[in-house]
Amino acid sequence: MDRIEIKPGIFWVGGIDWDLRDFHGYKTQRGSTYNAYLIIDEKITLVDTVKHYLFDEMLARIEAVVDPSKIDYIVSNHVEMDHTGGLPKLLKIATNAKIITSENGEKGLKRHYKEDWDLQVVKTGDTLNIGKRTLHFVSIPMVHWPDSMVTYVAEDKLLLPNDAFGQHLATSERFDDEVGQDIIWEEAAKYYANIVLPFGPQVVKALDVVETLDVDMIGPSHGIIWRSHIPKLLQKYRKWATHQTENKALIVYDTMWDSTRKMAHKLKEGLLESGFHVSMRCLKSTDISDVMTDVLSTKLILIGSPTLNNNMLPSMGAFLTYLKGLWPKDRAGMAFGSYGWGGQSIGQIEEIMKEMKWEIPLEFIRIKYIPDEDELEKVKQMGRELGDRYRER
Ligand code: FEO
Repeated sequence: MDRIEIKPGIFWVGGIDWDLRDFHGYKTQRGSTYNAYLIIDEKITLVDTVKHYLFDEMLARIEAVVDPSKIDYIVSNHVEMDHTGGLPKLLKIATNAKIITSENGEKGLKRHYKEDWDLQVVKTGDTLNIGKRTLHFVSIPMVHWPDSMVTYVAEDKLLLPNDAFGQHLATSERFDDEVGQDIIWEEAAKYYANIVLPFGPQVVKALDVVETLDVDMIGPSHGIIWRSHIPKLLQKYRKWATHQTENKALIVYDTMWDSTRKMAHKLKEGLLESGFHVSMRCLKSTDISDVMTDVLSTKLILIGSPTLNNNMLPSMGAFLTYLKGLWPKDRAGMAFGSYGWGGQSIGQIEEIMKEMKWEIPLEFIRIKYIPDEDELEKVKQMGRELGDRYRER
């Protein structure tokens, strides 16, 4: 196994999950990695581990550098099992290793593994001297779980923030300047939209801390390591965390007999006529985790579903449940769709937009059975009106 030294004496010893296509419901078309970092110092320290099925890969990478039984500390920045799944087997080899984790990390590890491991709890401001280096710990609760913390290696200007700044991206390259830029920014945005979006205020607090540190490398727990684009990354995270969007439109819909699709396309035509940029996502062909990438950067979101059994289509129900949980704020929305008799779905969609406290500039539109030319013209006019209204902002 190759030794991958990211800083003198610090090695990437993670696992690459090439075939992963679903990460708790998030479609990971490019796979993922679970990044673990081995620091060789007077005290040998491993920061995080990998998902259980990549344990052997991690172990081989560690063995390429050092005898794993000599590990003194294992820092567990985050309990979720994609980062702790390798712990039980590793602790059977590194029998003298002590786990360093947050207070919630200790509780979480005990609930997950029911083991009486040797643990040391640290909190924000605590440090751990490992020889030539001192590790600094900062708690970042809810980025991604209550236990989450970052480890900062000041001597190496290296920040190890676990889930923050990650991307689900399997690649043989390890750094942000070795992979196509479109890919890394798309995956970083998708990751933020699907994992981090609900925690904007906590991300802002974490950024405030990170920006006081002298950092020239950020090693997240998923995807590539940042060394060339850190200022841009921090800028994007602040923008996403404060729900800043672009003046563009996203139309998300599903359809039964094409009437809602016709309405979606007329809305698009109206928006385009007003000079607005529009994306169209049909839930028959686009996964909801990819729709979320568009939601992240979009101000105006139009959502359409016909009515089925007094409700919206199940695909739309799944999307709105997911969307509401991730709760993008400061958006404007409009609901639309066709119906045969009850027509409840359109009002239900609008109600969810209101629950998310979105602006509703125009009341929803619904059309019985199949829209005629006059109705489609009216729908197009609504698209134009929305575009005119938001383009000028
Ligand atoms: Fe990558 Fe919250 O685990």
